[in-house]
Amino acid sequence: MIKFLLLLLNLNLCFANTLEQWLEKQAVFSKQIILNHISPKDGSRGSVIASPSKFEPDYYYHWVRDAALVTNVLIEEIIDQNLGSSHPYFKKILEYIEFSEKIQNASTLTDLGEPKFYVNGEGYNLPWGRPQNDGPALRSLYLMRLANSLNNQNKNELASRLYKPQLPANSLIKKDLEYIAHHWSETSFDLWEEVNAHHFYTLMVQRQVLLEGSEFALKMDDPYASYYYFHESKKIESFLSQFFDQKNKKIFTSLNYQFGLNYKDSNLDIAVILALLHVGDNSFIKLDNPYLLNTIKYLEIHFKNLYQINNKNLPGTLFGRYPEDQFFGGNPWVLCTLAIAEFYYKNSKNNSSDFDKAENLMKRLQFHARQDMGLNEQIDRVSGYMKAADNLTWSHASFLTALKARNQAPKKFFMIK
Ligand code: NOJ
Ligand code: NOJ
Repeated sequence: MIKFLLLLLNLNLCFANTLEQWLEKQAVFSKQIILNHISPKDGSRGSVIASPSKFEPDYYYHWVRDAALVTNVLIEEIIDQNLGSSHPYFKKILEYIEFSEKIQNASTLTDLGEPKFYVNGEGYNLPWGRPQNDGPALRSLYLMRLANSLNNQNKNELASRLYKPQLPANSLIKKDLEYIAHHWSETSFDLWEEVNAHHFYTLMVQRQVLLEGSEFALKMDDPYASYYYFHESKKIESFLSQFFDQKNKKIFTSLNYQFGLNYKDSNLDIAVILALLHVGDNSFIKLDNPYLLNTIKYLEIHFKNLYQINNKNLPGTLFGRYPEDQFFGGNPWVLCTLAIAEFYYKNSKNNSSDFDKAENLMKRLQFHARQDMGLNEQIDRVSGYMKAADNLTWSHASFLTALKARNQAPKKFFMIK
């Protein structure tokens, strides 16, 4: 009996070690991909490529949303580890800021709502789902947090470059805040670039940047703007209550559909969970909100039935974007599955069994991982092989943010390493 228990313990430790080893190696690789994709060799300084893939799909562009989420991985390291402005990551971030200033002034079809740019900084003026008004919100949200974290002299220098009270706005953050404050009530395209409507995701990140922007404006001697941003953020907050589906106790992803893809009947989307993760830890909607938990539950039921690869007795469930997805045939996505893992690691402080759910998802991803550690955008729903955009930068960023949540999860401290 004792022998048997020891064997089990041993097996368990082996598995834990293997996962642990993979996580460590993957982290080094993913970080390197991010550094390589910011200021790529053949792009302008500070541009961030979504993926090196140039056809099927052509992702060799700077997407405002992807770029902000990816750069925020470096920003959070600077903040968390107090790395200071002489660190090489800071140099990359300054390059990103320089490029962002450049594209804010490029000629585009939808002002700051323009979703993607050529890597030389020119606007992409061909047909596309535009505007996408989450981009400028993410960009300024993370840059404000960076400026706030620096020590005095660097803070003053960066903050006064990024925020000048002057109108019409001529500084990066002020421009974004003015744009968002004036346009949030209009419909725009969602983060998947497919539907023009009001979106929970977009409104959540807009509310957050205006709220934090209001405090920032006050520090920057711009009290009237501060008051204005605060009020607009409160209006968004009350509008967001409409997204709570009272009948089924879940969260709608979109309301007031205007045009675009018209077959998303479930109105269920992982974007709702991404919204919570991307605004950060002190949102007014908590991770254990029952509507949010139900949204995940419903999505999981759909994805379990939908994807053949989810019926193979493997740990965890692979998640896609939304049940009706047809892009590349409609598959699980790396960043969506990692978002659920990240969610469970974070929520394990409310519900300790969530830690194991998250671990299962990481093991699951390890199972599908490529030998060379590259992470694509998607995982084939039948074969389980990685497919679509190669080394999607956002996939690597999602791996690193999920891993960070793992390292901060309470249970981690009790695990035998
Ligand atoms: C359709 C996809 O569903 C959407 O998310 C993507 O951005 C565009 N095509 C362009 O690749
Ligand atoms: C398609 C995704 O739907 C969108 O969210 C993303 O910004 C682009 N690909 C680039 O990665």
